[in-house]
Amino acid sequence: MSGDVILSLTDVVKHFPVQSGSIRRNKDVVHAVDGVTLEVRHGETLGLVGETGCGKSTLARCITRLFDLTSGQIVFDGKDISTLKARDMRPLRREMQMIFQDPYSSLNPRKTVGSIIGEPFVIHGLEREKDARKRAVQRLMELVGLNPEHYNRFPAEFSGGQRQRIGLARALALKPKLIVCDEPVSALDVSIQAQVLNLLADLQSQLGLTYIFISHDLSVVRHVSDRVALMYLGKIAELSPSEDLYEKPRHPYANALLSAVPTPDPAEAAKKKKIILVGDVPSPVHPPSGCRFHPRCPKAQQLCVDEDPELVARAGDQPSHLTACHFPVKSAEELITATPQIAEHERIVEPEAVSAETVSELIEKGAP
Ligand SMILES: Nc1ncnc2c1ncn2[C@@H]1O[C@H](COP(=O)(O)OP(=O)(O)OP(=O)(O)O)[C@@H](O)[C@H]1O
Ligand code: SF4
Ligand SMILES: [Mg+2]
Repeated sequence: MSGDVILSLTDVVKHFPVQSGSIRRNKDVVHAVDGVTLEVRHGETLGLVGETGCGKSTLARCITRLFDLTSGQIVFDGKDISTLKARDMRPLRREMQMIFQDPYSSLNPRKTVGSIIGEPFVIHGLEREKDARKRAVQRLMELVGLNPEHYNRFPAEFSGGQRQRIGLARALALKPKLIVCDEPVSALDVSIQAQVLNLLADLQSQLGLTYIFISHDLSVVRHVSDRVALMYLGKIAELSPSEDLYEKPRHPYANALLSAVPTPDPAEAAKKKKIILVGDVPSPVHPPSGCRFHPRCPKAQQLCVDEDPELVARAGDQPSHLTACHFPVKSAEELITATPQIAEHERIVEPEAVSAETVSELIEKGAP
């Protein structure tokens, strides 16, 4: 692992059993995360983007070890944390924090903001003296742009954007090195989103923080990220510096998603052709063979059905631009007119529903 890397993932896998109530139905598993390898560098923001259900939150919870891994390795700040038990993870929790999409449900409505933000100090036995703790909490409130005099107010008395600031203040209490932000602005109005994103950027430069920033919104991710990893069905399809991914997307899936992002310039927008993908995202219980995108890919060939493409730098790309595709899109290639060269039965696999009841029951069990 090179010196500037704070987090390194090697072939991380997280499968969930498919079960009904407490009874496991069969040997089927949800392939939520299926072999993710990546590095995050000190002080950068790595964007993690992809459609709903592609495994972003599961990967986040594996990284912060809120979930046990099915297999694979995670090294954080030089320490292998892949199999650490909760007790051994505790000191590391100070260095690695998570903020969530819904700032309201992640805050206890019966506690004052002061005690919510001060809770990490209590849990970790820091700032034991009450006045010192209050001062520390008020400093954090100021840092995230909250009025320290509102120390005794309850979460319901704050707006959505302010609640996200409370979550951020709590995450910052223990001076973490890494913050995993799981859709931190998705529930906020656009104007408030900008304020929270600017605050995250300011705090990053002030405190030298490293972020993993998760969103399904490609525009938001572009705005905040140094590098971006695009996920599809539990795997990384493309990983590259942000500008490269948006200017020269190589994976057909990246091209399709970006073709649907609105362009502010009317002349550019008129030129842009939207690539419509066939079918829905297939089931994560029985993912397609070879390249998981093959049933929907306009460029698919037999090799794509047979062989899972590696996530590597493809011919002509910088070593930092990795694509998991046998036939990456070339510049000026018209994907819109491409025709897949595979048998009809390999296309448009209908997704199998994973019962919502099963998923929510399991989330209750698995999540903290
Ligand atoms: N605890 C669980 N038990 C069973 N399946 C789960 C569990 N958590 C997630 N899943 C499944 O794993 C897959 C990945 O889910 P995940 O929540 O990680 O996706 P996501 O990319 O974060 O989606 P979203 O954008 O909707 O938040 C989905 O198919 C989901 O139903
Ligand atoms: S490997 Fe084949 S199916 Fe997969 S994205 Fe590339 S061209 Fe499409
Ligand atoms: Mg999620």
